[in-house]
Amino acid sequence: MYVPDIDFLTSDDIPDILRINAESQCSWPEEVIRSDLSDNSSSEITYLGAFASTAEAPLLGYAVLGREKREGLLMALIVDRIYQRRGIGRQLLVAVSDCAMYLKFRRLKLKVRKSNSAAISLYSQMSFVGETVRRGYYSNGEDAVIMSAKLPLKERALN
Ligand SMILES: CC(C)(COP(=O)(O)OP(=O)(O)OC[C@H]1O[C@@H](n2cnc3c(N)ncnc32)[C@H](O)[C@@H]1OP(=O)(O)O)[C@@H](O)C(=O)NCCC(=O)NCCS
Repeated sequence: MYVPDIDFLTSDDIPDILRINAESQCSWPEEVIRSDLSDNSSSEITYLGAFASTAEAPLLGYAVLGREKREGLLMALIVDRIYQRRGIGRQLLVAVSDCAMYLKFRRLKLKVRKSNSAAISLYSQMSFVGETVRRGYYSNGEDAVIMSAKLPLKERALN
């Protein structure tokens, strides 16, 4: 397990976000990131990053929290491939949960590719349950699974 420093992201972190996106299948569009993190952005979107606790503090992963109606929406969660499977995704989700509670959301929703077993496994472990499937949601025709969890997120005990 790796314990990162978790903090809000700013426009200074955009190059690191783009570096992580470039390696991932789940990239968050650059123009959206630039707009969300611009100084005069009026969006209600929160970017949280996991940083290595070294002098250079490179970004190891990030999560994006937005809103859909009265619920929180997890819009992205990506961990640098080299640092995956060290508990960083789980710790980012705990930070997203804290933020979502602060914003008075009661539930958190997300969409994930049906084939993304790593992410679905993490979300299930963090108490998300599949609600529905949206057929052909992604541009390649893949289905999206819509998952939702009551806040605060709670880690399920594994058998
Ligand atoms: C999904 C993702 C964010 C997980 O991040 P991570 O830091 O590797 O996750 P964690 O180390 O916190 O894993 C927590 C648990 O999730 C599950 N999990 C994570 N990666 C897994 C994998 N590759 N295969 C199976 N289970 C996995 C496991 O239950 C794991 O617990 P364990 O390691 O004790 O068995 C990461 O794989 C990723 O960035 N993927 C590419 C982007 C993506 O698909 N994002 C989600 C949809 S937008």
